[in-house]
Amino acid sequence: MAKAKATMFFCKECGYESAKWMGQCPGCREWNTFVEAPAQKAGTSGGRFKSAGVLGGGAVSGRFPASGGLRPKKLSEIETSCEERTSTGMEELDRVLGGGLVSGSLVLVGGDPGIGKSTLLLQVCRNLSGDGHRVLYISGEESLSQIKLRADRLGEFSGELTFLCETGLDLISEVIVGEKPETVVIDSIQTMYREDAGSAPGSVGQVRESTQILLRLAKEHNITIFLVGHVTKEGTMAGPRMLEHMVDTVLYFEGERNVPYRILRGVKNRFGSTNEIGVFEMRGNGLSEVANPSEYMLSGKPEGASGSVTACSMEGTRPVLLEIQALVCRTNFGMPRRTAAGTDYNRVNLLLAVMEKRAGIHLSDCDVYVNIAGGIRVNEPSLDLGIVLALASSHRDTPVDDRMMVFGEVGLSGEVRAVSMAEKRVQEAAKLGYTICVLPQVCLSRIADPPRGIRLVGVKNVGEAMDLIGR
Ligand code: TYD
Ligand code: MG
Repeated sequence: MAKAKATMFFCKECGYESAKWMGQCPGCREWNTFVEAPAQKAGTSGGRFKSAGVLGGGAVSGRFPASGGLRPKKLSEIETSCEERTSTGMEELDRVLGGGLVSGSLVLVGGDPGIGKSTLLLQVCRNLSGDGHRVLYISGEESLSQIKLRADRLGEFSGELTFLCETGLDLISEVIVGEKPETVVIDSIQTMYREDAGSAPGSVGQVRESTQILLRLAKEHNITIFLVGHVTKEGTMAGPRMLEHMVDTVLYFEGERNVPYRILRGVKNRFGSTNEIGVFEMRGNGLSEVANPSEYMLSGKPEGASGSVTACSMEGTRPVLLEIQALVCRTNFGMPRRTAAGTDYNRVNLLLAVMEKRAGIHLSDCDVYVNIAGGIRVNEPSLDLGIVLALASSHRDTPVDDRMMVFGEVGLSGEVRAVSMAEKRVQEAAKLGYTICVLPQVCLSRIADPPRGIRLVGVKNVGEAMDLIGR
């Protein structure tokens, strides 16, 4: 009797599988994301929809050998092995990874095209091979000579680092199993291709299948694999969120292409916290680490200029001081213009309304421009007070004290509300030589040990804060 061919569907966003098509995915609640999976060929072992089982069996039993059949274990019976960490030679990257690379892990590095993913990973390869590790870099996007040109910009290479230009995953698997490198870079996962999967490279099915094969290789042979993933216009990884479920660690490389400042952010990490960021600067000879982001962000701050205020945002657990710039000038004709670069436009409008209503500053006939210097994006409420003071300072054309740092959330009644990690922010300001810190009154009691040399000024509302910059 012929078996009925089961057609399968899966959600291209989250990978949810179902025997029938559905308008809304029960997994991620997105609409119209179900696509039909290509029919499985007879004889392909461990097809796509059994793959969870393959992984469950292969990957997990490799780590916890099941002796004498399957037997669940008590917590007390489980031995924890302290994962061995390998340094990538870049402290900023090690920190985001949670203290270095865990062998056998699959790390996805996503980001816009041209942001520096290939450069970052080539530098990692260089450091690892320099430390005596065997590294294989597989590119599906660039030719060997293009890679060489990039490598020439980065400086000297040594050790066992080999390159391969290939997109066929069957061949790649063979090479990896044959060469047994410790670390492999796949640049990029969207170019990888497996004939059996039946769809075009870069399609959801191919990306999923390729990642699964690489995941198996990583776990079975204890190889650390970096995957480069492209990001679509909407800002998600092309091919898309299901990739994030499959890998151990997801890092995003962010920044504006024409600004050298780059942030590496952990979005998911099975081996560490996702609170950490790494900061880099793109230079002529590759990426260099920025150990002190505050100094970097403030490097071009003008002295004695009105409309410029130093504020503090938290990037993970790290305080970063930055400069808020505001420009307020009379509208010449028609509707006043409002722009916000690097921060939320609606938030700026809200703060303008609060200033008008609660502090009696009339800006309705003024053009208002707000900018966070340095090309980074920050959407933290703790910047509110800084934005308000920058606006007031520009409106009155009175500079704010250059040694003053400001943070605090502003509420709709004009009150200045508490923000988290006040002590860390104050310490960072003191470290960089600031002598006055304007902060929410309620935060004062939370600062147990105020650093020396900095005066803390608590404010309850925007009016009090504005009085500090004079009229
Ligand atoms: P790349 O690593 O190719 O980006 P991705 O792999 O994310 O697409 O980086 C490309 C950009 O970086 C390119 O615009 C040139 C610039 N770049 C430098 O500024 N300095 C360098 O040393 C290198 C290698 C690249
Ligand atoms: Mg690239």
